[in-house]
Parts: sequence; C-alpha cells; structure tokens
Amino acid sequence: MTRLVEQLDDALADVRRALPSGAAPTVGLILGSGLGSFADKLEGAVKLPYREIRGFPVARIVGHAGNLVYGSAGGAEVLALQGRAHYYEGHPIRDVIFPARVLIRAGCQTLVITNAAGGIDPQLTPGEIVILRDHLNLMCVSPLLGDNDDELGPRFPDMSEVYDARLRALAALAGDELGLTLRSGVYAALSGPSYETPAEVRMLRTLGADLVGMSTVPEAIAARHMGARVLGLSCVTNLAAGVSPNALSHEEVTETAARVRGQFEALLAGILGRLSQERGGA
Ligand code: HPA
Repeated sequence: MTRLVEQLDDALADVRRALPSGAAPTVGLILGSGLGSFADKLEGAVKLPYREIRGFPVARIVGHAGNLVYGSAGGAEVLALQGRAHYYEGHPIRDVIFPARVLIRAGCQTLVITNAAGGIDPQLTPGEIVILRDHLNLMCVSPLLGDNDDELGPRFPDMSEVYDARLRALAALAGDELGLTLRSGVYAALSGPSYETPAEVRMLRTLGADLVGMSTVPEAIAARHMGARVLGLSCVTNLAAGVSPNALSHEEVTETAARVRGQFEALLAGILGRLSQERGGA
C-alpha cells in the first residue's frame, strides 16, 4: 500500500502545478456550509477542482463547491478549501482529513476551520459567530486510526489546546474591530447526517457543549497531529433540536449562513490581515 506521505506528496504536486511560481501560502482555510464564497474574493484567485487533485474526496452536498482556491487577502497567502467532504457522506475518515493534511504540507501552518453549527447554549442566537475554545469528539471515530506515520506527527498527539489561544485572541480582536462581540464555545461533533434529538441535545449540554455540528473536529485533530495551529469558527445557523420549538432543516442552515456571509467574510479578512501583520512583526 502506498504510504500516506507519498499520497500527500502526489496531491501536493498537483496543487503546486496550478499555483503561480513563487507562491508560498501560509494560511489554510476550510470553508463550511454556505461560506465558500470567501474564496472567490481572494486576490489573484486560482481555482483547482478537487477532482484534479489526486486523493481528494469529492464533496457532494448542496452549498459545497469542491474547489481548492489559492489567493491572498489582507497580505496573507491562503489556500482555501471551498467545500469539504463529510464523514456522513460515507468517505473513510482518513479521506475526510486528507485535504487538510495537504494544506498543512503545502506550508499552511495556521489552519482556520469554519462550519455551520446548531446552538445548544440558549444564550446563542442564529446568525452569531462563535470562536471555538475546545471540542468533544463524539463522532465515534478518530481520524488518526490505523498506522501512524512518524514523519507527519506522533502516535499519541497532545490535545490540551486544539484551538490556539493566541489565534482565539486575534479573532476576538478582529471581531471587535467590526463591532462584533464574539463569544467562545465548546463544539460537539457528531457523525450525523440526522440532526440530534432533543434528548441528545440535553445530553450534549450536560457534557459541556455549546454548539453541535458534523465536521471540523477530524480536521482539527489532524492539524494538531501535524503541529499546525488551529482557529475554529462556527456560524450558529439554527438553535439545536429542542432548544427551539421548530423542526430543523438544511434550508434553514444554508439560509442563515447566507445571511451572515458578509459579516463572516469581513471577519475572515480581518483575521487574515492580522495574521500577516503577526508574521511581519515576528
Ligand atoms: N446539528 C448538527 N449539525 C448542524 C446543525 C445542528 O443543529 N446546524 C448546522 N449543522
């Protein structure tokens, strides 16, 4: 069987061929449900469909475009994933995280992961953006199952601080600049694809979760495994089941994400500007 590093390097070769010469992206961006449009606004955007990158799983969900986009914003060179493959689509978990690993191997030592999530904390309101402080992996699977490649990271990686404290502070400042007071929260990841029952949401609340979703955690674990730092941002697209009397729907999720898109994009631009200053001043 081909080693994972060799598969990653094949994918990286496909990506590099598409990039302008001298490109040196340092920030990876994973854009969640309905939030992919940010990538279209990157300066000098170069788009590569996932099907042209060896080993990339192809996303099949409405609202997930399925392109890798290179470009810059706020002075930072970025590789963005416009749409992601989810575990609930039936992709093996190792394939779900493969694109995140490629971004990191391409030089993106900072990974910004965005998602749409249900609000469990009753104080959260749909349309709010939350900075992830920690997570609960309740997907019943680890993306690191199987052989470990020591070239990528350790067998037993530390997860004491998955979501980097400096990046959280930086995101909060970028929010302040836009007049947004961003709360932080704990994100519980379940495999889906059914939404939770009210009893499950009560359980998640008891376990300390503020938000619930079906993504992000596998990529965050993979990033920490490889030593990259992670920022997680959730768009609260709906109140979780039982928190609101209404039934949940994917339409509500994409509608709220679309409503908040402008704010989310402004926040990402602010964060990228601060990241490039941080590096300039380092
Ligand atoms: N539950 C799980 N995933 C989600 C939700 C939710 O309420 N909203 C958006 N993604």
